Amino acid sequence: MPADLSPIDKAKFAAARRAVDLIEDGMRVGMGTGSTAAWMVRCLGERVREEGLRLQGVPTSTRTADLARQVGIDVVSLDEAKWLDITIDGADEFDPELNLIKGGGGALLQEKIVATASDQMVVITDASKEVNHLGGFPLPVEVIPFGWQTSRALIEELLESMDVLGRQTTLRLNGSQPYVTDEGNYIVDLHLNRIGNARQLALVLNQIPGVVENGLFIDICDMVIIGGADGKVEIRDINEGSVSNEKIDFAEDDNIFADLD
Ligand code: A5P
Repeated sequence: MPADLSPIDKAKFAAARRAVDLIEDGMRVGMGTGSTAAWMVRCLGERVREEGLRLQGVPTSTRTADLARQVGIDVVSLDEAKWLDITIDGADEFDPELNLIKGGGGALLQEKIVATASDQMVVITDASKEVNHLGGFPLPVEVIPFGWQTSRALIEELLESMDVLGRQTTLRLNGSQPYVTDEGNYIVDLHLNRIGNARQLALVLNQIPGVVENGLFIDICDMVIIGGADGKVEIRDINEGSVSNEKIDFAEDDNIFADLD
Protein backbone atom coordinates (compact mmCIF):
# COMPACT_ATOMS: atom_id res chain seq x y z
CA MET A 1 0.00 0.00 0.00
CA PRO A 2 1.40 3.44 -0.86
CA ALA A 3 2.45 5.27 2.28
CA ASP A 4 0.79 8.47 1.05
CA LEU A 5 -2.73 7.01 0.98
CA SER A 6 -4.78 9.07 3.45
CA PRO A 7 -6.25 7.42 6.57
CA ILE A 8 -9.75 7.97 5.17
CA ASP A 9 -8.84 6.21 1.91
CA LYS A 10 -7.34 3.32 3.88
CA ALA A 11 -10.60 3.05 5.82
CA LYS A 12 -12.70 3.14 2.64
CA PHE A 13 -10.45 0.55 1.05
CA ALA A 14 -10.71 -1.77 4.07
CA ALA A 15 -14.52 -1.68 3.91
CA ALA A 16 -14.51 -2.20 0.14
CA ARG A 17 -12.00 -5.05 0.34
CA ARG A 18 -14.15 -6.91 2.90
CA ALA A 19 -17.34 -6.32 0.93
CA VAL A 20 -16.10 -7.99 -2.25
CA ASP A 21 -15.57 -11.21 -0.25
CA LEU A 22 -19.38 -11.44 -0.32
CA ILE A 23 -19.33 -11.89 -4.10
CA GLU A 24 -19.60 -15.43 -5.45
CA ASP A 25 -19.06 -16.81 -8.93
CA GLY A 26 -21.97 -16.08 -11.29
CA MET A 27 -23.50 -13.27 -9.24
CA ARG A 28 -25.19 -10.19 -10.68
CA VAL A 29 -23.75 -7.27 -8.77
CA GLY A 30 -24.94 -3.66 -8.45
CA MET A 31 -21.98 -1.30 -8.30
CA GLY A 32 -22.41 2.01 -6.51
CA THR A 33 -20.92 5.43 -7.17
CA GLY A 34 -18.46 7.56 -5.22
CA SER A 35 -14.94 7.28 -3.85
CA THR A 36 -15.69 4.29 -1.58
CA ALA A 37 -17.58 2.44 -4.29
CA ALA A 38 -14.64 3.07 -6.64
CA TRP A 39 -12.39 1.10 -4.26
CA MET A 40 -14.93 -1.72 -4.35
CA VAL A 41 -14.92 -1.75 -8.16
CA ARG A 42 -11.12 -1.96 -8.18
CA CYS A 43 -11.16 -4.82 -5.64
CA LEU A 44 -13.82 -6.62 -7.66
CA GLY A 45 -11.80 -6.16 -10.85
CA GLU A 46 -8.84 -7.74 -9.13
CA ARG A 47 -10.89 -10.81 -8.22
CA VAL A 48 -12.09 -11.07 -11.82
CA ARG A 49 -8.53 -10.91 -13.14
CA GLU A 50 -6.83 -13.04 -10.47
CA GLU A 51 -9.49 -15.69 -9.77
CA GLY A 52 -11.39 -15.70 -13.07
CA LEU A 53 -14.54 -14.76 -11.13
CA ARG A 54 -17.48 -14.56 -13.55
CA LEU A 55 -20.03 -11.89 -12.74
CA GLN A 56 -22.29 -9.33 -14.32
CA GLY A 57 -21.87 -5.83 -12.96
CA VAL A 58 -24.63 -3.23 -13.13
CA PRO A 59 -23.20 0.28 -12.65
CA THR A 60 -25.11 3.18 -11.09
CA SER A 61 -23.42 5.93 -13.12
CA THR A 62 -21.34 6.49 -16.22
CA ARG A 63 -18.33 7.06 -13.91
CA THR A 64 -18.71 3.63 -12.36
CA ALA A 65 -19.37 2.00 -15.74
CA ASP A 66 -16.14 3.47 -17.13
CA LEU A 67 -14.08 2.31 -14.15
CA ALA A 68 -15.64 -1.17 -14.15
CA ARG A 69 -14.81 -1.72 -17.82
CA GLN A 70 -11.31 -0.43 -17.20
CA VAL A 71 -10.67 -3.06 -14.49
CA GLY A 72 -12.14 -5.93 -16.54
CA ILE A 73 -15.67 -6.32 -15.15
CA ASP A 74 -18.44 -7.42 -17.55
CA VAL A 75 -20.82 -4.44 -17.49
CA VAL A 76 -24.52 -4.98 -18.26
CA SER A 77 -27.60 -2.81 -17.83
CA LEU A 78 -30.15 -3.41 -15.09
CA ASP A 79 -32.68 -4.38 -17.74
CA GLU A 80 -30.29 -7.05 -19.01
CA ALA A 81 -29.56 -8.37 -15.52
CA LYS A 82 -33.22 -7.94 -14.42
CA TRP A 83 -32.59 -8.71 -10.75
CA LEU A 84 -29.40 -8.53 -8.71
CA ASP A 85 -27.93 -10.75 -6.03
CA ILE A 86 -26.24 -7.89 -4.26
CA THR A 87 -25.46 -4.18 -4.53
CA ILE A 88 -22.46 -2.61 -2.85
CA ASP A 89 -22.40 1.17 -2.53
CA GLY A 90 -21.18 4.02 -0.35
CA ALA A 91 -23.37 6.42 1.62
CA ASP A 92 -23.24 9.97 2.89
CA GLU A 93 -24.88 9.12 6.23
CA PHE A 94 -26.26 6.02 7.95
CA ASP A 95 -28.28 5.81 11.16
CA PRO A 96 -28.72 2.98 13.73
CA GLU A 97 -31.52 1.41 11.61
CA LEU A 98 -29.22 1.52 8.56
CA ASN A 99 -31.36 4.13 6.87
CA LEU A 100 -29.24 6.31 4.61
CA ILE A 101 -28.73 9.64 2.94
CA LYS A 102 -27.18 9.15 -0.48
CA GLY A 103 -26.63 11.27 -3.56
CA GLY A 104 -23.69 13.45 -2.53
CA GLY A 105 -22.13 12.30 -5.79
CA GLY A 106 -25.32 12.98 -7.74
CA ALA A 107 -26.16 9.37 -8.65
CA LEU A 108 -29.03 8.79 -6.19
CA LEU A 109 -31.67 7.91 -8.79
CA GLN A 110 -29.82 5.03 -10.42
CA GLU A 111 -28.42 4.03 -7.02
CA LYS A 112 -31.88 3.70 -5.50
CA ILE A 113 -33.30 1.79 -8.48
CA VAL A 114 -30.35 -0.62 -8.49
CA ALA A 115 -30.29 -1.10 -4.71
CA THR A 116 -34.03 -1.77 -4.63
CA ALA A 117 -33.66 -4.37 -7.38
CA SER A 118 -31.19 -6.36 -5.26
CA ASP A 119 -31.62 -9.24 -2.83
CA GLN A 120 -29.09 -7.56 -0.56
CA MET A 121 -27.73 -4.02 -0.30
CA VAL A 122 -24.40 -3.54 1.44
CA VAL A 123 -23.05 -0.10 2.35
CA ILE A 124 -19.32 0.39 2.64
CA THR A 125 -18.11 3.35 4.63
CA ASP A 126 -15.70 4.86 7.09
CA ALA A 127 -16.86 5.67 10.63
CA SER A 128 -17.41 9.38 9.90
CA LYS A 129 -20.70 8.66 8.08
CA GLU A 130 -22.44 7.24 11.17
CA VAL A 131 -25.08 9.53 12.76
CA ASN A 132 -27.83 9.18 15.36
CA HIS A 133 -30.25 11.20 13.21
CA LEU A 134 -30.07 11.72 9.46
CA GLY A 135 -29.95 15.24 8.12
CA GLY A 136 -26.54 16.72 8.92
CA PHE A 137 -25.58 15.96 5.33
CA PRO A 138 -27.69 17.96 2.84
CA LEU A 139 -30.47 15.78 1.44
CA PRO A 140 -30.32 15.63 -2.37
CA VAL A 141 -33.61 15.74 -4.25
CA GLU A 142 -33.53 15.08 -8.01
CA VAL A 143 -35.97 17.25 -9.99
CA ILE A 144 -36.66 17.47 -13.70
CA PRO A 145 -35.40 20.71 -15.29
CA PHE A 146 -38.88 21.71 -16.55
CA GLY A 147 -40.36 24.02 -13.93
CA TRP A 148 -37.64 23.20 -11.42
CA GLN A 149 -38.13 26.50 -9.57
CA THR A 150 -41.78 25.62 -9.00
CA SER A 151 -40.75 22.18 -7.73
CA ARG A 152 -38.26 23.82 -5.39
CA ALA A 153 -40.92 26.22 -4.09
CA LEU A 154 -43.25 23.28 -3.43
CA ILE A 155 -40.45 21.46 -1.60
CA GLU A 156 -39.89 24.55 0.58
CA GLU A 157 -43.61 24.79 1.30
CA LEU A 158 -43.67 21.12 2.28
CA LEU A 159 -40.70 21.58 4.61
CA GLU A 160 -42.69 24.15 6.62
CA SER A 161 -44.84 21.31 7.97
CA MET A 162 -42.02 18.78 8.42
CA ASP A 163 -40.11 17.90 11.57
CA VAL A 164 -36.72 19.28 10.47
CA LEU A 165 -34.28 21.75 12.03
CA GLY A 166 -33.26 23.64 8.87
CA ARG A 167 -35.23 24.54 5.75
CA GLN A 168 -32.74 26.12 3.39
CA THR A 169 -32.54 24.69 -0.14
CA THR A 170 -29.88 25.17 -2.82
CA LEU A 171 -29.68 24.21 -6.47
CA ARG A 172 -26.57 22.08 -6.96
CA LEU A 173 -24.16 23.77 -9.35
CA ASN A 174 -21.35 22.67 -11.62
CA GLY A 175 -19.37 25.90 -11.86
CA SER A 176 -21.95 28.55 -12.65
CA GLN A 177 -24.38 26.12 -14.33
CA PRO A 178 -26.83 23.67 -12.74
CA TYR A 179 -25.30 20.26 -12.05
CA VAL A 180 -26.92 17.78 -14.45
CA THR A 181 -27.37 14.13 -13.44
CA ASP A 182 -26.84 11.12 -15.71
CA GLU A 183 -30.60 11.23 -16.32
CA GLY A 184 -30.49 14.89 -17.41
CA ASN A 185 -32.08 16.23 -14.21
CA TYR A 186 -31.13 18.86 -11.60
CA ILE A 187 -30.49 18.36 -7.88
CA VAL A 188 -31.88 20.54 -5.11
CA ASP A 189 -30.00 20.00 -1.83
CA LEU A 190 -32.05 20.38 1.37
CA HIS A 191 -30.10 21.69 4.38
CA LEU A 192 -32.24 20.15 7.12
CA ASN A 193 -29.61 19.61 9.87
CA ARG A 194 -31.83 17.00 11.55
CA ILE A 195 -34.68 14.97 10.10
CA GLY A 196 -37.27 13.96 12.71
CA ASN A 197 -39.19 11.48 10.56
CA ALA A 198 -37.12 10.35 7.60
CA ARG A 199 -39.64 7.73 6.47
CA GLN A 200 -42.43 10.30 6.20
CA LEU A 201 -40.21 12.86 4.48
CA ALA A 202 -39.03 10.30 1.91
CA LEU A 203 -42.63 9.50 1.00
CA VAL A 204 -44.04 13.02 0.79
CA LEU A 205 -41.14 14.50 -1.18
CA ASN A 206 -41.84 12.05 -3.98
CA GLN A 207 -45.48 13.24 -4.16
CA ILE A 208 -44.38 16.64 -5.49
CA PRO A 209 -44.73 16.98 -9.27
CA GLY A 210 -41.29 17.39 -10.82
CA VAL A 211 -39.51 15.48 -8.04
CA VAL A 212 -38.02 12.33 -9.50
CA GLU A 213 -36.44 10.85 -6.37
CA ASN A 214 -34.87 11.80 -3.07
CA GLY A 215 -31.69 10.61 -1.37
CA LEU A 216 -33.34 8.97 1.65
CA PHE A 217 -32.86 5.20 1.49
CA ILE A 218 -35.32 3.76 4.00
CA ASP A 219 -35.40 -0.01 4.70
CA ILE A 220 -33.15 -0.66 1.70
CA CYS A 221 -29.76 -1.31 3.29
CA ASP A 222 -29.18 -4.77 4.82
CA MET A 223 -25.59 -4.50 5.97
CA VAL A 224 -23.02 -1.82 6.71
CA ILE A 225 -19.30 -2.52 6.63
CA ILE A 226 -17.35 0.18 8.47
CA GLY A 227 -13.66 0.32 7.64
CA GLY A 228 -10.82 1.71 9.73
CA ALA A 229 -7.45 3.08 8.60
CA ASP A 230 -5.74 0.23 10.48
CA GLY A 231 -7.59 -2.41 8.42
CA LYS A 232 -10.17 -3.19 11.08
CA VAL A 233 -13.70 -3.64 9.79
CA GLU A 234 -16.98 -3.78 11.67
CA ILE A 235 -19.85 -5.61 9.97
CA ARG A 236 -23.41 -4.80 11.04
CA ASP A 237 -26.19 -6.99 9.66
CA ILE A 238 -29.64 -5.49 10.32
CA ASN A 239 -31.52 -8.70 9.40
CA GLU A 240 -29.41 -10.96 11.63
CA GLY A 241 -29.11 -8.30 14.31
CA SER A 242 -25.41 -9.13 14.44
CA VAL A 243 -22.19 -7.16 14.72
CA SER A 244 -18.80 -8.71 13.99
CA ASN A 245 -15.24 -7.46 13.79
CA GLU A 246 -12.46 -8.53 11.46
CA LYS A 247 -9.14 -7.22 10.13
CA ILE A 248 -8.01 -6.76 6.55
CA ASP A 249 -4.36 -7.47 5.72
CA PHE A 250 -3.38 -4.60 3.43
CA ALA A 251 -0.17 -6.37 2.38
CA GLU A 252 -2.19 -8.81 0.25
CA ASP A 253 -3.52 -6.02 -1.96
CA ASP A 254 -0.45 -4.52 -3.57
CA ASN A 255 -1.80 -5.29 -7.08
CA ILE A 256 -4.66 -2.84 -6.65
CA PHE A 257 -2.40 -0.04 -5.52
CA ALA A 258 0.11 -0.77 -8.26
CA ASP A 259 -2.59 0.25 -10.79
CA LEU A 260 -3.07 3.69 -9.24
CA ASP A 261 -1.63 6.67 -11.02
C1 A5P B 1 -23.23 9.03 -4.97
O1 A5P B 1 -24.33 9.63 -5.55
C2 A5P B 1 -23.43 8.91 -3.50
O2 A5P B 1 -24.62 8.33 -3.11
C3 A5P B 1 -22.27 8.21 -2.85
O3 A5P B 1 -22.51 6.86 -2.67
C4 A5P B 1 -22.01 8.84 -1.57
O4 A5P B 1 -21.96 10.23 -1.83
C5 A5P B 1 -20.73 8.37 -0.90
O5 A5P B 1 -19.64 8.85 -1.60
P1 A5P B 1 -18.17 8.65 -1.05
O6 A5P B 1 -17.91 7.21 -0.98
O7 A5P B 1 -17.30 9.34 -2.09
O8 A5P B 1 -18.10 9.33 0.27
